Amino acid sequence: MAVQISPSILSADFARLADEAAAVPNADWLHVDVMDNHFVPNLTLGLPVVEALLKATSLPIDCHLMITDPDRWAPPYAEAGAGSVTIHAEASSAPVRTLREIRSLGSRAGLALNPATAVEPYEDLIGEIDMLLLMTVEPGFGGQKFLDMVLPKIRRARALIERRGGEVWLQVDGGVSTETIERCAEAGADVFVAGNAVYGAGDRVAAVDALRSLASGAA
Ligand code: DX5
Ligand code: ZN
Repeated sequence: MAVQISPSILSADFARLADEAAAVPNADWLHVDVMDNHFVPNLTLGLPVVEALLKATSLPIDCHLMITDPDRWAPPYAEAGAGSVTIHAEASSAPVRTLREIRSLGSRAGLALNPATAVEPYEDLIGEIDMLLLMTVEPGFGGQKFLDMVLPKIRRARALIERRGGEVWLQVDGGVSTETIERCAEAGADVFVAGNAVYGAGDRVAAVDALRSLASGAA
């Protein structure tokens, strides 16, 4: 399992997004949190900013859509060229159709689950996705405390993915830091979102390297 680090620009300076993206050249992805103030109680950015970022960085964009009606709004992010587009299971009424559409537009398709959403009901969707995102905080804000209660679900999700051939990436998002990343990796996660732990650090390159080496050592 190759460890991948996806710094979240939610903790970056929104007035200097191109520079903030350039500050993490050693990252695998740039994680972009789209929030609509309905699915989560916070409002961030949308398609025009993602389109601008796509022109401003060579890093692939990992779009995490925390929005209602992703069935309607997700495909344009794939069409724009996001490398990965993740929708929330709690918000989608036609996930199979939407995930297939994301894939057909050339992006990796991700499915996200909130901390209280069990993974087992989504077992049959494993063949439809390229990444499963398990939230390790309630979505909406950066800088929250990591929820250890999600660790057993990470293990169960990893087992489920292995039963299906192990192709699907398992991402964790929320409170991931040098304190918590080893627990996540040991439980079976392989893609790590980090907002505060990267953009709250003085040296972002060193922060990404530190997270990667801890996760690689624990995997
Ligand atoms: C929270 C977002 C996260 C957030 C993580 O709802 O989905 O991507 O940026 O921030 P940290 O790593 O600071 O918890
Ligand atoms: Zn996120």
